[in-house]
Amino acid sequence: MEKLRLAFSLFVVVFVFSSWKARSENKSATLEAKRPDGLTAWERVYSVLTSPRCVNCHTATNYPQQGDDRHRHFANAVRGPEGKGVPALQCATCHQAANADGTGVPGAHGWHLAPLSMRWQDRDDKPLSSAAVCRSVKSQNVDLIKHHNEEPLVLWAFTSGLRPDGTARTLPPLTHAEFLEATRRWVEADKPCPTGGQR
Ligand code: HEC
Ligand code: HEC
Repeated sequence: MEKLRLAFSLFVVVFVFSSWKARSENKSATLEAKRPDGLTAWERVYSVLTSPRCVNCHTATNYPQQGDDRHRHFANAVRGPEGKGVPALQCATCHQAANADGTGVPGAHGWHLAPLSMRWQDRDDKPLSSAAVCRSVKSQNVDLIKHHNEEPLVLWAFTSGLRPDGTARTLPPLTHAEFLEATRRWVEADKPCPTGGQR
């Protein structure tokens, strides 16, 4: 009787362990299969992150940039301690909660510069490699799907309004829906990153 009970408990332990093992192997096999698709999706995400509408705020310097040529912001607007400018020249003095298409000042709720830990270019204002941006984004504890779906500064880039000369700002290379879909596919594949790329 005692032996039988022991054998039965052993059987249960082995059974539970092997089904757990099979499940986790299954999971990593599924993720492995998703990796190529995830990498393709990442390249699409990267094309948006490093487009002027986004990267002009994700700089490595003490200033934001402007325009498709990504020149230094006029009027010597600088980062300041929290990315919101300095007391004498706050971003929010000019940048309101919505685009001012009459004057060409872009606007969205909470307009400020991304922190240096979220820079996507080097100090010469050249975008970092796909591998480097990938590792950086992956290291941030941010709900990316939510951020890309709801963050006003992200949404602004897809509705960036008119320049001071009255012409429309260039939009990112994907529509917002395509960008969201690519983000979702990358996240679901467990955020694979290309290898290499020291910078
Ligand atoms: C004196 C008013 C003023 C202040 C202060 C100011 N901006 Fe601007 N900013 C503008 C105007 C006007 C434009 C539009 C210029 C253009 O499109 O040629 C602009 C454009 C930008 C753009 C470019 C959008 C694009 O993709 O082309 C970014 C980014 C930006 N500002 C960030 C900031 C940040 C961050 C701060 C605070 C640290 C700030 N600005 C402070 C007036 C200001
Ligand atoms: C007006 C400036 C501005 C613009 C334009 C902007 N961002 Fe940001 N971004 C920020 C700020 C500020 C933060 C930090 C937010 C925080 O601390 O909560 C941030 C953070 C992020 C993060 C989280 C950090 C990380 O590394 O994961 C992502 C992702 C992001 N932005 C994506 C984008 C994308 C995509 C675009 C363009 C479609 C964009 N941003 C345009 C200012 C900007």
